[in-house]
Amino acid sequence: MFSTLARSSAFVARPLVGRNVARTFVTPSLAVAATEGQAEVVLVGCGAPNRGMGWYHAVQMLEEKCPSASLDYIVEPWFLGAGSDSPAGQEFKEFKDDAEAKYGVKFAVSLEELPPPEAPRLALISGRTADNPRLLTESIAFGSKCIYLEKPGAPTVTELEQMKQEADDAGVEVLMGYNKNVCKYVRKTREFAATLPGSHVTFISNNAYENTPESLGECFERNAEGMLKNMAIHELALLVSFYDVSVDNIAEVVADKEFSSMQTLKGPSGKDFTDFDKIKFTIKTKNGNQVSVAADRCGGTDSYATVSDADGKEVFRYYMPDDDDKAHVKELEAKYPTAMPYFFTQDPDYITVKERVAKHTVDGAPAEGVATIGIAVETLKVAEYLTPMLREQLK
Ligand SMILES: NC(=O)c1ccc[n+]([C@@H]2O[C@H](COP(=O)([O-])OP(=O)(O)OC[C@H]3O[C@@H](n4cnc5c(N)ncnc54)[C@H](O)[C@@H]3O)[C@@H](O)[C@H]2O)c1
Repeated sequence: MFSTLARSSAFVARPLVGRNVARTFVTPSLAVAATEGQAEVVLVGCGAPNRGMGWYHAVQMLEEKCPSASLDYIVEPWFLGAGSDSPAGQEFKEFKDDAEAKYGVKFAVSLEELPPPEAPRLALISGRTADNPRLLTESIAFGSKCIYLEKPGAPTVTELEQMKQEADDAGVEVLMGYNKNVCKYVRKTREFAATLPGSHVTFISNNAYENTPESLGECFERNAEGMLKNMAIHELALLVSFYDVSVDNIAEVVADKEFSSMQTLKGPSGKDFTDFDKIKFTIKTKNGNQVSVAADRCGGTDSYATVSDADGKEVFRYYMPDDDDKAHVKELEAKYPTAMPYFFTQDPDYITVKERVAKHTVDGAPAEGVATIGIAVETLKVAEYLTPMLREQLK
């Protein structure tokens, strides 16, 4: 797994820190590895190797996929704290020992253990969604210039609005990990649709859950915020970013009753959970845009988008990954055979968002296409607005 990472020659000048120095930050000169033109990244909430989104962000930065990002600190509250004795905690320890020894990354249980920044500090927050509001407060308190916040940012609109206010008051910018905003299939689809007047775009997102009450019940309970806030939130961010969708600007929402399905199922706890296992809907905005989203928990592993002409006939379809990227996905699967498959299909997009945000942290260059926390607030508002409305339509 991680120990197979090749260490490129660019790491030669980087100070090596021994295994026994975690959380002691020997001297300030060893404590920062960011060089001129790089942001000093603090990854907050790494998660378990091969499973946590934060872990994959770490791997990409250590493999030097993002030239403006230097991963100097990893803050992991659970696997270095109460969860350290679990099997995943043991795997985390192996990863930590490797990352300390090979790359001089320093680990801590909380942000307060970190020394002050010696380069523009970027906190990449990838904790559990419910923990992220607190982690943002701490990231601001401990010297972050900019924050990369994993989607959706917070469980509710109210919390996310408070976070935005807090960051605005502190003069700290917050950019979001909505990676589909920069991804190839979305760009290609939008470019094609722009050439065809009267055309209609549909974004399709699939998961590969088994279509059984047990499997979906487990999914419903684990993702209790519901399908729109959890799975289709990336697509809602696209609608807000590129189609002027906002609660105030929505003119009409129509569920596709034939496609969609809502179920009440028992989760592993024995409690009932009601959610969509499939949902498709079309939104019209007051300024004349129209766009559709389809999401299916049991639809497979592909995300793609289609364009239909004015007669409703599909004339264009683009997949993620496309044929060019499939070979790259295979290489990554071979390198990290037990990691979450979605890391690989979205690998280039995670790199793009991180690099743009890190560069922005250093030189202020616009992080093109990257969603702001303002977009994220509107996205969550749309999710909270649509969920009861679609449920009502599907009764
Ligand atoms: N952009 C994307 O494509 C994408 C994909 C997946 C997740 N995410 C987002 O990334 C963030 C992290 O997601 P994840 O799937 O890595 O989450 P995760 O639950 O695997 O890990 C996040 C953190 O939760 C803590 N944790 C783990 N197990 C715990 C336990 N039993 N008790 C208490 N704390 C525990 C750990 O500190 C860990 O760092 C979320 O905001 C999620 O929405 C984004």
